[in-house]
Amino acid sequence: IWTPANFVEAEIERIRELVGDKRVLCGLSGGVDSSVAAVLIHRAIGDRLTCVFVDNGLLRKDEGKQVEEAFRNHFHMNLIAVNAEDRFLEALKGVSDPEKKRKAIGNLFVRIFEEESKKLGDFDFLAQGTLYPDVIESVSFRGPSVTIKTHHNVGGLPEDMKFKLLEPLRELFKDEVRAVGAALGIPDNFIWRHPFPGPGLGVRVLGEVTKERCDVLREADAIYMEELHKAGLYRRIWQAFTVLLPVNTVGVMGDNRTYENAVAIRAVESTDGMTADWAHIPYEVLGRISNRIINEVRGINRVAYDISSKPPATIEWE
Ligand code: XMP
Repeated sequence: IWTPANFVEAEIERIRELVGDKRVLCGLSGGVDSSVAAVLIHRAIGDRLTCVFVDNGLLRKDEGKQVEEAFRNHFHMNLIAVNAEDRFLEALKGVSDPEKKRKAIGNLFVRIFEEESKKLGDFDFLAQGTLYPDVIESVSFRGPSVTIKTHHNVGGLPEDMKFKLLEPLRELFKDEVRAVGAALGIPDNFIWRHPFPGPGLGVRVLGEVTKERCDVLREADAIYMEELHKAGLYRRIWQAFTVLLPVNTVGVMGDNRTYENAVAIRAVESTDGMTADWAHIPYEVLGRISNRIINEVRGINRVAYDISSKPPATIEWE
């Protein structure tokens, strides 16, 4: 019978046999899938695995730090963390069309990943956290994604990078991956992390993406997540996030009129992201989230709750 422990044991054997004394390169995103794949492969081959984590400056609050803490300090993996925030922001300057943003982010990601892998020398295997639903293509992504997987599929990786793919999770569903992650001792904040699009805040800061706007969004989103955890709702929700709208709205603060940003908060229930219902978060919780965001985040004076389901709306706003 399938148990996480049996799977881990069998997969470690299989990886050892397949990889032999060769080296493996893994693109780590900080999401559940690549995290579990990396820890599993590390168990099998130790230092012959090297992980590359590209911080594109479009991540959630403190995410980069958490990845370094978990994988370098806790799991003692070979981790190359690249801080590429400036390069991504530069590439996004003046770009507000969502598809153009996705392309800019995706292309730069591939370029940086390639630069790093060249510095590291020859690898025989490229590890990816591909899951069964990805294999059967039941998950549809709009536009180019910054996952290596997608780029690999569309031929985004250069011809001379002749890797064999190592995809230890390709027969698993998300809940099985989480169980395997728990069996491997991966911290809860990674295992239960909501899905996050490759282009990150690039598609959640609507209009032009700047550092200031990303920072405002990160602060609001961190408060939102904290309140969902406190209310015991985080795990029951498939995905929740904050969107920074490209409009200012009028408000009052004391005797003064303000003209500042509005954010939308989104929470959906889903099993695969293909269809989704907006989550019925209790009004009191919504009230707390809104009060805290408006009081604590400078530059936001209005919070709206998105009550659209998919279809016809999508989960992300872009
Ligand atoms: P939509 O907005 O199309 O999103 O309803 C469905 C699911 O896919 C995620 N998403 C992405 N994931 N790269 C990813 O890895 C991407 O480019 C991307 N775009 C959307 C989205 O967050 C939701 O879970």
